[in-house]
This record gives sequence, structure tokens and C-alpha cells, in this order.
Amino acid sequence: MDLSGIRSKGVSSMNNPVNVRKKGRINVVINHKTIDKVDRTESLFQTEQEKEKHDILSRFETELEKYVGLEEIKRLVNEIYAWLYINQRRQQYGLKASKQVLHMIFKGNPGTGKTTVARIIASFLYEMSVLSKGHFMEVERADLVGEYIGHTAQKTRDVLKKANGGVLFIDEAYSLARGGEKDFGKEAIDTLVKAMEDNQHDFVLILAGYSREMDYFLSLNPGLPSRFPIAIDFPNYTTDQLMEIVRRMLSEREYQLTKDGELHVKEHLRRIRQEQERTFSNGRYIRNLIEEAIRMQAVRLLREQKYDRQALITIKRDDFQFHTSHVKLN
Ligand SMILES: Nc1ncnc2c1ncn2[C@@H]1O[C@H](COP(=O)(O)OP(=O)(O)OP(=O)(O)O)[C@@H](O)[C@H]1O
Ligand SMILES: [Mg+2]
Repeated sequence: MDLSGIRSKGVSSMNNPVNVRKKGRINVVINHKTIDKVDRTESLFQTEQEKEKHDILSRFETELEKYVGLEEIKRLVNEIYAWLYINQRRQQYGLKASKQVLHMIFKGNPGTGKTTVARIIASFLYEMSVLSKGHFMEVERADLVGEYIGHTAQKTRDVLKKANGGVLFIDEAYSLARGGEKDFGKEAIDTLVKAMEDNQHDFVLILAGYSREMDYFLSLNPGLPSRFPIAIDFPNYTTDQLMEIVRRMLSEREYQLTKDGELHVKEHLRRIRQEQERTFSNGRYIRNLIEEAIRMQAVRLLREQKYDRQALITIKRDDFQFHTSHVKLN
């Protein structure tokens, strides 16, 4: 059985286990600790034939390979794919196809890839027919919380309506608990929880924020953690991973960094990673740094009046002026 047609076949079939939105739910427990470090990034499939047969997974593996690290996400996508595929196989024998709760918590510092990953997950779940539309909607406290009693529930319901069929991503979700019992944020949480329980809703909710704040937020709302069985940590990137991101971002833009330039950037990253451990904006900082270096290179080339191909693709040490940089660290 080939799952490649899952998108077109899946949504209309009442018996299709893939169609999670029409059914009740069971929880998935993901045990991060038992995973063998070596195995976890490896593809499930070795031959081209197998990859072709599992085309959706192969495409998402390729998409995720563009990103450095994110091992937990790569593994999660494998797990969800395998679960849905095996469910279909089980159905051929008349076996029960289980349902799962796929709401998630993403914990990590700014720029660690949370939004990027949530977008990819949205389109993956769409292609697997778990979500009917697969669009991505990012909101924050102000989009959910109103100014008077009843306003918040209405605002949140409006957001939920728009998010139907897709992924609703709430950034800095802990801010919903900011003002304690009297704050309207609580009303937003209650409305969200109600929608999660209500089978009419076809959406995956992802709450994101700094690790420490999210843990505190979850501890204030004892009913919440079990509703989000998938919790993913987005750790700060290591200096080597940041350098890999630098290389990938430059090569994507058709630039090359000189050896001298590499050492210079690496030294800088090593230093600021230590100094700004909690607020450092990881991948976003790298992107901004590179865009600034590209502007600096352009100014240098104009000044030098050098327009040959090699000059146009080369980024040098001098193109990174960290002490006068306009790029914010966080
Ligand atoms: N692993 C990675 N490999 C390559 N680029 C990355 C990686 N992680 C993040 N980036 C890049 O860093 C930038 C910021 O990523 P993203 O917006 O997903 O972070 P975020 O965790 O949502 O941040 P915030 O919490 O501040 O919203 C994007 O340009 C993204 O492409
Ligand atoms: Mg984000």
C-alpha cells in the first residue's frame, strides 16, 4: 500500500485512521531518553525504491536536512509518519487504528527554530491528512486577550475559527498567565482547553516560549501538561552548529567565507554565546549578521571597484565589524 495518495484519499474516508480530527484521542508518550544518539538522524529507509514509496516522509526529511540540528523534530516526523502508515496497514486486517493527541509545547530561546519547525509540521500534517488545510497561524497574547469580561473568550474563539484545519502557534504562551487569577489571560487558556476537548475542532495547538517561563506556566495550570503530550526542547545552538548555519546561509545566497573570516566569526560567536546565554537569538542573529556582512561587502566592493566573479562571491573578515555592528544580539 502506497501512502503517497494519502492527501486526496484520506480526508473523505470516514474509516481512515489518518483522519484524526473526526475521532477521539489517546495520548502519545515520547520517551526522549531511550534514543540512541547515532540512530536518530538516520532515515527509516535505505533504498531509493523505499524512499519513493514513502514519498511524503522523504520530502520532509529532505526539507528538515536543510536545518542544522533539530534532531528531536526529525525523529518526531518519522514517528508520526510511521504511526499513520502502520495504522493504515493495520486497517487492512480489520485491526483498530489508534488516535493520538498531537498538541505540542516548544521550549527554547529566541531564534532556535521554533516558528520554522511549526510551519514545517503544519504542512507535514496537512500532507498526511491529519489537518484539512495545514495553514499556519501565529498569535500572541494581544491577539487572544480582550479588555473586558467576555471579550477574551470571543477574541480567542475568533482566532480558533481562523486556525481551524491548521496549526495554531502561540508564541510566548506563558504571558497568558501573567496577571494571575484576575487576568483575562486565564479566560483565553480556558477557551483554548475547551476547544482542544471539543471534537469539532480540527487543529493542532503549539505553545512556544522560553524553557523556564514555559515550565512555570505549565506548573500554574495543572490540567495543561497532559494535554500537550509532545514537548520539544530547542536548545541554544553550539558554536559549531552556528558556524554550520553561517555556511549554509551564505552558500544558499551564493557567497563564500574566507578561512580567515571563518575564524573571526567563530571566535566572536564563541564569546557572545557565553556572554548572552539566555537571550542570544541563535539562528536569527546569524541571519542578521550575514545580511549585514553582505551589505558591508557591497560597500567594500564599490570602494575597491572590484566586480569580478570571485570578488562578488567572497565575504572577508573585514566584512564583519562586530564592534560597530548594528545587529542586535537578542
Ligand atoms: N537549525 C537551523 N538551521 C538553519 N537555520 C536556522 C536553524 N534554526 C533557526 N534558523 C534560522 O534562524 C531564524 C530564526 O528562526 P525561527 O524564527 O524559527 O526561530 P524562533 O525559535 O521561532 O524564534 P522566536 O522565539 O524569537 O520567535 C530563521 O531565519 C531560521 O531559518
Ligand atoms: Mg518564532
